[in-house]
Amino acid sequence: MENIIEVRNLVKKFGDLTAVNIDSLKIRRGELFGLLGPNGSGKTTTVKLLTGQIRPTKGDAKVLGISILKDPIKIRELVGIIPEQENPPSFLTAEEYLYFVAKIRKLDNIRKKCEEWFKFLEFEDQRDVLCKDLSRGTRQKLMFAQAFIHEPTLAFIDEPLINLDPIIQRKVKDYLMEFVKKGGTIFFSTHVLEIAEEICTTIGIIDKGKIIYKGPIKELKKRRQHLEQFFIKLVKES
Ligand SMILES: Nc1ncnc2c1ncn2[C@@H]1O[C@H](COP(=O)(O)OP(=O)(O)O)[C@@H](O)[C@H]1O
Ligand SMILES: [Mg+2]
Repeated sequence: MENIIEVRNLVKKFGDLTAVNIDSLKIRRGELFGLLGPNGSGKTTTVKLLTGQIRPTKGDAKVLGISILKDPIKIRELVGIIPEQENPPSFLTAEEYLYFVAKIRKLDNIRKKCEEWFKFLEFEDQRDVLCKDLSRGTRQKLMFAQAFIHEPTLAFIDEPLINLDPIIQRKVKDYLMEFVKKGGTIFFSTHVLEIAEEICTTIGIIDKGKIIYKGPIKELKKRRQHLEQFFIKLVKES
């Protein structure tokens, strides 16, 4: 199977702090990869590196076969991204923002595509509300829609399900599982273990910037090891 993401000796430092230091990481087509780790362990920094939003201090990675050093713009063009904390521009309505993203991404049938997302995530009634006045959950829905509207083959989603109500969470989880079944790939960062256990095909555990475990979720389940126990044990040992 084909490697969609390939990391080799990727380092990001902020002053004296080494936020990310990944020797090797490979993610294949069709994986729903969950990157798990405590607060401050380097998940968001890893997502930013792999989506070409920040430059590594050392090393390189290939995403969809493209070097993050050589062509970060191409990577951002191709992939879908739900950033951890960024908000859509306060001065646009939900609908204007989604149209804007669709325009930048040069999509056809923009009206229809936006319509489908408003319907799917059940926020048609919020389309004319300014982004700054949307609830956190609705803003999260909008960020989800903007990440997937161009039908990417790879999406990076950083803590995407917090703030969503259970009904929408269910829909989104099913969407993600279906997305990888159809050949897409997801890089999903979270510290919510239950979600990872439920939907991910593979998990990685990151601590102090280092990947201390990567393996299929099936392995854990076969060994009847609860992800929580496994996670705490590994992070304590590291
Ligand atoms: N721009 C930055 N400047 C300085 N330190 C940063 C910056 N971004 C992240 N860090 C630090 O890097 C570490 C990893 O952060 P982050 O990747 O956000 O962790 P996580 O997403 O796992 O919670 C933390 O110690 C954080 O404080
Ligand atoms: Mg984070």
